[in-house]
Amino acid sequence: MKKIAVAIDGPGGAGKSTISKEIAKRLGIIYVDTGALYRTVGYYAREHGLSVNDAKVSDKITPMLDGINIEIKYVDGAQHVILNGEDLGDKIRQPDISMYASACSSVGNVRAFLLETQKKLARENSVIMDGRDIGTVILPDADVKIFLTASEQARANRRYKELVAKGSDVKYEEVLSELVERDRADSSRDVAPLKPADDAHLFDNSDYDFEQSVEYIIKVITEKTGVTEIEK
Ligand code: DC
Repeated sequence: MKKIAVAIDGPGGAGKSTISKEIAKRLGIIYVDTGALYRTVGYYAREHGLSVNDAKVSDKITPMLDGINIEIKYVDGAQHVILNGEDLGDKIRQPDISMYASACSSVGNVRAFLLETQKKLARENSVIMDGRDIGTVILPDADVKIFLTASEQARANRRYKELVAKGSDVKYEEVLSELVERDRADSSRDVAPLKPADDAHLFDNSDYDFEQSVEYIIKVITEKTGVTEIEK
């Protein structure tokens, strides 16, 4: 199979990761979750006393980067992030880590620190990589770029259901306001803000279910690259 790179960008809750993971499986390529890298930096920052509301996040996080070593491993197709030798597993999925990740991701030095890890994965493998700046900064020459979005309500609803299914007693309104705040922060930052690449294919999946979203994107990938599903 020829080597391909697929970039999936978009706001939180649009289903980027679950959809990308399934597409990776069906096409036999690697799924790279770049949000996990920012979450790992956010996790380290929280463990080392950074306050997410600190006006000087940039000054505080930059010197911390010297103490961070991040490796990515794949076990049975699943991505594992190793921070200073420790596999963090689901620790980076704790709800407050989202805000730490978002705060750290607005710092140019953090983005520069994580750049090569992401580019290297795409140099060495066929990838579907999701994030906020994949089509614009990390893989500007990606074969396929999708900007995946959905209405705020649809996204908040999906995230809410996901959290409730995991046993959380979170309120819908909280989920919605956190999502709106994070979109605002991710889209309005100076460095690598969330925005569609000029050549991205815009896909609003508010009215699509999971399977329809997966099939839609696979169709775009197949049309553009000739790569087809190996399993279903
Ligand atoms: O995709 P996620 O929710 O796991 O990402 C967590 C945060 O990391 C998100 O709020 C913005 C940031 N991020 C980023 O700035 N660039 C990326 N490529 C991926 C994530």
